[in-house]
Amino acid sequence: MAENAKHLLIVDDEAALREAIAERLTDHGFVVEQAGSGEEALTRLAEFAFDIIITDLRLPGVDGRAVLDAALERYPDIIAIIITGFGTVKDAVNAIKQGAADFITKPFQFDALLHVLKSALEQRRLRSENAYLRSQLEERYRIDGLVGRSRIMRDLFQLLETVAATSSTVLIMGETGTGKELAARAIHHNSPRRANRFVAINCSAIPETLLEAELFGHVRGAFTGAVGTRQGRLEQAHKGTFFLDEVGTMSPALQAKLLRVLQEREFERVGDSHTVKIDVRIIAATHSDLQKMVADGSFREDLFYRLNVIPVRLPPLRERREDVPLLVQHFLQKLGSEQIPPRNATMSQEALRQLMAYSWPGNVRQLENVVERALAFSQGRSQIDVTELGAEIRNAPAEGDDASPWFPDEGLDLERYIEGVELTLIKRSLERTQGNKVQAARLLNLKRTTLIEKLKRLERAPGV
Ligand SMILES: Nc1ncnc2c1ncn2[C@@H]1O[C@H](COP(=O)(O)OP(=O)(O)OP(=O)(O)O)[C@@H](O)[C@H]1O
Ligand SMILES: [Mg+2]
Repeated sequence: MAENAKHLLIVDDEAALREAIAERLTDHGFVVEQAGSGEEALTRLAEFAFDIIITDLRLPGVDGRAVLDAALERYPDIIAIIITGFGTVKDAVNAIKQGAADFITKPFQFDALLHVLKSALEQRRLRSENAYLRSQLEERYRIDGLVGRSRIMRDLFQLLETVAATSSTVLIMGETGTGKELAARAIHHNSPRRANRFVAINCSAIPETLLEAELFGHVRGAFTGAVGTRQGRLEQAHKGTFFLDEVGTMSPALQAKLLRVLQEREFERVGDSHTVKIDVRIIAATHSDLQKMVADGSFREDLFYRLNVIPVRLPPLRERREDVPLLVQHFLQKLGSEQIPPRNATMSQEALRQLMAYSWPGNVRQLENVVERALAFSQGRSQIDVTELGAEIRNAPAEGDDASPWFPDEGLDLERYIEGVELTLIKRSLERTQGNKVQAARLLNLKRTTLIEKLKRLERAPGV
């Protein structure tokens, strides 16, 4: 018996026919079991996950339709083939609608059955290959916890993956909340160093006086309070990845010491003359413009070049608004699953439009906070609406409404876009006038009847 032999259950109350088919199918490599009644079929199905079931529709007692139902309910992926009597096409069609893969009409040649069976198997294989390809494609919309669908983010994922394979120093630049730390972790987790540690230190969060000892460690008595010898963070990252966050805030003295680590991969613990050698990949991140800092003398030029071996730029969210829906979905799923009981909420289209139009000074972190808050305010409703977004989003002048509307990578449907803008503005005017159409029309310099007409038409329009 081949390892991937298909397990098949044949259900028919005509014993001679059933046995003949079973025998021939066995010859063709199937592992065949038989059931002479609907009841017996149900018992077999409860005990074993068959790949294929072939059942006569007309059975005494529990009929074929009930068997089919039970099979598909328990095993949505089972291949079901129905045997019908002559002239009962309607039954066959119903069975297909119910989820059967195919049918065959009695009387039939064995070869005809074999053909039906093989093409059903082939179809199933194609379908699962497709699903696999789709899942592969979807994979590209994320790397570790980073999700994004915009061209710029997909290129970035590619870059992160390529960089991960190397040990080169990486400099990640981006505004606050754009995902710099996530990107650093993604590099580490996709690198050959993943089995070792990812050690992060935030230069701006540690007082200058302590930072050096934190980084390099110290020996006993190195300074007041240094009661024992301690390993620094750099040493802890040996053979792993060291993440130096907000590197732009380092003092000139420390910049010089860091430069030596980058060039020689060695340093001394504070208060010690013994040299420590390490093997680390260094990833630095900054939200400041280091090049400008180099120009005005606050950051060492040589250090900048040592860090900037592979620059990675995380674009602000307002430059990739097409990522907003995917991010919203990602956060709704993540935050929803953390709740008790888990929630499975969606965002209304209008709320999404508002989110996509917003300028996001706090980038993805701010979006995550807004989604979390909206989820809390929606109090268990399955759809989150504009009212739950909070005033700063609802009342923000939408960038898309001004003289330079946002233009997505993949282009847009101009008429639908304009209709969307019209509808948004009409709704805003109605909100402002508490639904008073006369006043709203005046605000929009429209006749009242024109406003009503537009509203009716726009609300009927697809996709607006
Ligand atoms: N592309 C993304 N997909 C999913 N989550 C993201 C993405 N970018 C950022 N986040 C989330 O946003 C938050 C901020 O990300 P992260 O801490 O990596 O940003 P940062 O650039 O380091 O910010 P800061 O400069 O403020 O330190 C985190 O909760 C992170 O999970
Ligand atoms: Mg950060």
